[in-house]
Amino acid sequence: MRRKVTKAIFPVAGMGTRFLPATKSIPKEIMTLVDRPLIQYAIDEARAAGIKEFIFVTSRGKGALEDYFDLAPELENALRKSGKDALLETLRATNMDSGAIAYVRQHRALGLGHAVWCAKRLISNEPFAVILPDDVIAAEQPCLAQMVEAYEQTGGCMVAAMEVPPAKAGAYGVLDVAEDMGSLVKVRGMVEKPPLGEAPSNLAVIGRYILTPKVLQTLNRMKSGAGGEIQLTDAIAEEIRQGREVYGHRFRGQRFDCGSKAGFLQATVAFGLAREDLRDEFQTYLGELMQAQQAAE
Ligand code: UTP
Repeated sequence: MRRKVTKAIFPVAGMGTRFLPATKSIPKEIMTLVDRPLIQYAIDEARAAGIKEFIFVTSRGKGALEDYFDLAPELENALRKSGKDALLETLRATNMDSGAIAYVRQHRALGLGHAVWCAKRLISNEPFAVILPDDVIAAEQPCLAQMVEAYEQTGGCMVAAMEVPPAKAGAYGVLDVAEDMGSLVKVRGMVEKPPLGEAPSNLAVIGRYILTPKVLQTLNRMKSGAGGEIQLTDAIAEEIRQGREVYGHRFRGQRFDCGSKAGFLQATVAFGLAREDLRDEFQTYLGELMQAQQAAE
């Protein structure tokens, strides 16, 4: 029997410089897509995949994130008294079980690999997931749940993979594919941010991983890689060199890069249009906006 994946690491210690000045005082993960902070989408996806323990790797200035996961008894009382049951339910759905959340500090932003390594004492000898909350994925079956299902068959390490145009591959970790099995690919190597024209495939890694504890041991010895950061991709690539299996999972769904301004705006439009309570008004507005723009051109 394979061990179940019940722990997830959420690395949220980055500085979020692309969203300055907002991120001067608001953690990027608290920024709202429609009416929910990015971190809530990540938590919901983790829960749907059977995750029971949530480990946040934080840094200075992320207090609002910790507060977000506190109970809000005054707010709950006020909603109950005024009979706002639907809102009360919305609020309660965000409550976390006591003891289910842990926070560790990454004192210096030395890279994603280092952030994951910081959580190592909270992961014993078991597989674990890593979720980057700024990658938001709209999918019928949540992305991590798809991966957990696939992982139950394969074991090893698994990364979420997405096709990208060659001109954009340099912004991602890219898979060198040994065997393409459709929704799964067996990986022969991985290159972080390859120079233009040198990407080994068009399959890019995005922010969902299922990793074995061996990766944490590898991270113990890691030196900085691309961009001077300790890269998670390099540690996973080392797994392959050591003869262990790594898979890419072509997930079904649409990924939004909410770590970038354009991606965040796209996600806002897509998630706004997907909401029944907003769709009609929002669609009408967007239609009128397009018409006005076309008339002005
Ligand atoms: P990004 O590359 O988006 O970096 O990190 P960032 O600092 O969040 O944002 P920009 O580029 O300055 O705008 C991807 C994920 O890895 C985490 C981030 O919090 C984000 O979830 N991360 C990155 C860490 O936790 N620690 C690090 O040292 C680097």
